[in-house]
Amino acid sequence: NWTAESFVETTVAQLKEKLGDDKVVLGLSGGVDSSVAAMLIHQAIGKNLYCIFVDNGVLRKDEFSGVLESYKTLGLNVKGVDAKAQFYTALAGLSDPEAKRKAIGKTFIDVFDHEAHLIEGVSWLGQGTIYPDVIESVSVKGPSATIKSHHNVGGLPDFMKLKVVEPLNTLFKDEVRAVGRTLGLPEAILGRHPFPGPGLAIRILGDVTPEKVEILQQVDALFIDGLKRDGLYDKVWQAGAMLLPVQSVGVMGDERTYERVVALRAVTSVDGMTADWAHLPYEFLANVSNEIINRVKGVNRVVYDISSKPPATIEWE
Ligand code: XMP
Repeated sequence: NWTAESFVETTVAQLKEKLGDDKVVLGLSGGVDSSVAAMLIHQAIGKNLYCIFVDNGVLRKDEFSGVLESYKTLGLNVKGVDAKAQFYTALAGLSDPEAKRKAIGKTFIDVFDHEAHLIEGVSWLGQGTIYPDVIESVSVKGPSATIKSHHNVGGLPDFMKLKVVEPLNTLFKDEVRAVGRTLGLPEAILGRHPFPGPGLAIRILGDVTPEKVEILQQVDALFIDGLKRDGLYDKVWQAGAMLLPVQSVGVMGDERTYERVVALRAVTSVDGMTADWAHLPYEFLANVSNEIINRVKGVNRVVYDISSKPPATIEWE
């Protein structure tokens, strides 16, 4: 019978055998899968695992520095790459959701390929692919679709010609978490809500600018911190905020305001395929709404999304 401990023991032994003195490059996303894959490979080959964590400019507030710090604390050989400017340039003027996804996917590939070339003699690409990724057909919105559409125009990037090592490709999500726990991955990473690869770019309806990202990061942080403070974070499957391309009239003191509207979204789900809007307490929503309007400059209205999936999706784009 399967236990996380025995899985770690056999997998680390197999990885040692398979990888020997070879070098592996792996892209960390801050999520559970890539983190657990990195921890396992690190146990097997130590510093020969080169991890890359890219700041694409559309991460959550303080996520880049916070997650990078926890990876370093775990002993991983990780390089943080600030590529914000490159992503903002690629995103400039794009409003179509799929165009934004493609721009982010392509830029990520360019950045990662560049970084992989800096590692002399690297021969493997490590990936956090889990069993459902292997068996399920690739979602139209997924990153692989982006990679595919990129190939059609640009040819295969070099890092994709590397041999692939995927130590989690027989595991389900809860098994991945159990393995991560055994390896000492912090709860902050293990219990993290899913977060889309294109990040806040698909939660900013319309074009993406650094100024809009900054506003949405503040709103999102107040919402997520509030959920954690009130013990609600672990009760919802995913939560986040959307910056709408809408301004509304408000009043502040004697002044009329004309500012942005944000929508909060929290859902319960098992696998993200279907989802119900989370019935968060009114009291909580009232407090968060006040906090956001009082503290985030440029936002004067907060709405809560009460749509389920289907027919609505979790993300708005
Ligand atoms: P939807 O919006 O389709 O989302 O109900 C289902 C789950 O998938 C995530 N999602 C993405 N993840 N790249 C990703 O890596 C994407 O382009 C993407 N689009 C949606 C979404 O956050 C939710 O967890």
